[in-house]
Amino acid sequence: MTDQRVIVTGAASGIGLACTKLLLAQGARVTAFDIQGELMAQNLSQNLAENLPADEANLHLVAGDVSDPAVCEQVVAETIQQFGGFDALIHWAAAHSSARWDELGADECNRIMAVNVTGTFLITQAVAKPMIEQGKGAIVLCTSTSVLYGVTGGQGQGGPAYVASKGAVIALTRSLARSLGPAGVRVNVVSPGITETAMIENYSEEQRGAMKQRFPLGRFAQPEEIAEAGLFLISDKASFMTGETMHVNGGSNFG
Ligand SMILES: NC(=O)c1ccc[n+]([C@@H]2O[C@H](COP(=O)([O-])OP(=O)(O)OC[C@H]3O[C@@H](n4cnc5c(N)ncnc54)[C@H](O)[C@@H]3O)[C@@H](O)[C@H]2O)c1
Repeated sequence: MTDQRVIVTGAASGIGLACTKLLLAQGARVTAFDIQGELMAQNLSQNLAENLPADEANLHLVAGDVSDPAVCEQVVAETIQQFGGFDALIHWAAAHSSARWDELGADECNRIMAVNVTGTFLITQAVAKPMIEQGKGAIVLCTSTSVLYGVTGGQGQGGPAYVASKGAVIALTRSLARSLGPAGVRVNVVSPGITETAMIENYSEEQRGAMKQRFPLGRFAQPEEIAEAGLFLISDKASFMTGETMHVNGGSNFG
């Protein structure tokens, strides 16, 4: 069981949704944040239905865009109001782009960078301020195995904009870990391999079969298997980890 108060982004779907449910099941109080507000409310309706009166609720929902600094500040302010503070951020939200190098235009490239790089920075900056004041906090960001592998896009796979944005998240993690470490705030990043979520819904059956050959475990991840890495990294079990990339990819990236 945990008594942590956690902000989870990307909570409407996939890994973020699984993470929110796991945290709630373990007794955490969660602010769930996603741009798809209706889907998030629908997918977490059981958790809301079982909930206590508003002022005692253990789940708070915020709908908005992580690339908007005002929204990031709002998420933090509402969390402090609801739970009296918070202990951790697990940031899964991201936008996907399959455009190949010869299809990618400036607009699409800028949109992906705005959400995945600027958005990651902004939500981290917003949570870091109160964490520094309290002298403690844990931040988990999310990159992708595609950074190691160098996927090219097409057929639902990440293309250059997505892969470059996820590479930047590793660099951000290291920079922020150095800046925030002296104040007792840890920053780590999870690097998932292919995971059964909406993000891979455009893979063809043929492509799924071919990609699975790369996995010694012979399958893609379930969202909960990735979410658990986030739970570990915000726990005191990871108290001496910062600036680190945790790979959870079913062995798909060695050899
Ligand atoms: N699924 C995979 O194979 C895979 C592999 C490697 C890394 N990842 C990473 O895992 C994380 C979770 O992805 P997922 O697979 O659960 O995908 P998903 O599409 O199921 O979930 C992503 C969530 O992010 C939200 N989101 C998108 N843009 C947003 C914005 N501007 N503001 C707020 N929320 C926004 C979406 O609404 C969605 O609910 C992402 O960072 C993704 O890059 C996924």
